[in-house]
Amino acid sequence: MKRIAIFASGAGSNAKNIIQYFGTNPEVTVVAVLTNNPNAKVLDAAAELGVATLVFSREEFYKTHKINQFLGDQHVDLIVLAGFLWLVPQHLVHDYPRRIINIHPALLPKFGGKGMFGNHVHEAVKASGAEESGITIHFVNEKYDEGDILFQTTCKVSNEDTPETIAAKVHQLEYEYYPKVIEQLLLLQNA
Ligand code: GAR
Repeated sequence: MKRIAIFASGAGSNAKNIIQYFGTNPEVTVVAVLTNNPNAKVLDAAAELGVATLVFSREEFYKTHKINQFLGDQHVDLIVLAGFLWLVPQHLVHDYPRRIINIHPALLPKFGGKGMFGNHVHEAVKASGAEESGITIHFVNEKYDEGDILFQTTCKVSNEDTPETIAAKVHQLEYEYYPKVIEQLLLLQNA
């Protein structure tokens, strides 16, 4: 049995999609959803789906090993960031080498880095006049959006698209591919 922990800061539609995807897989389970945001909607989604939740403070995340301890106690194999907005601290990257992944809602290395999240990304894509956008799934290191890329796929962006319609296309790609890439990665970890 492979055990996943999801970190999310907001709505959690990806977290929900991943929990539901693995709900029918006896080999994989989402053991917890962790968040820095006590008001995050992802907490409701996790509770509805019967997944444990943990809210942590900035102090706990950066200055203590409380989260590492929790993940260790839960025997977590893979940490999945899904709309998680804080930089992952060095000590956590160190404890989970190539076992933390993130999804970014554009084609890295463009449109990434600090402050590039959610709609800011889609607004930047629109403003750039790019003819395509997409998703990037990558390993996490101690810098925003700079870890090795595992997977990318694209969608067209036309003149008529707005940041909102780009976001909708990108979300569809996220829902389709993020669970599958996680599944593949877990299989590789078994090999
Ligand atoms: C997703 O589009 C994800 O790619 C993005 O935040 C959204 C979260 O949506 N992540 C980033 O921008 C990270 N830099 P969700 O809470 O509904 O899953």
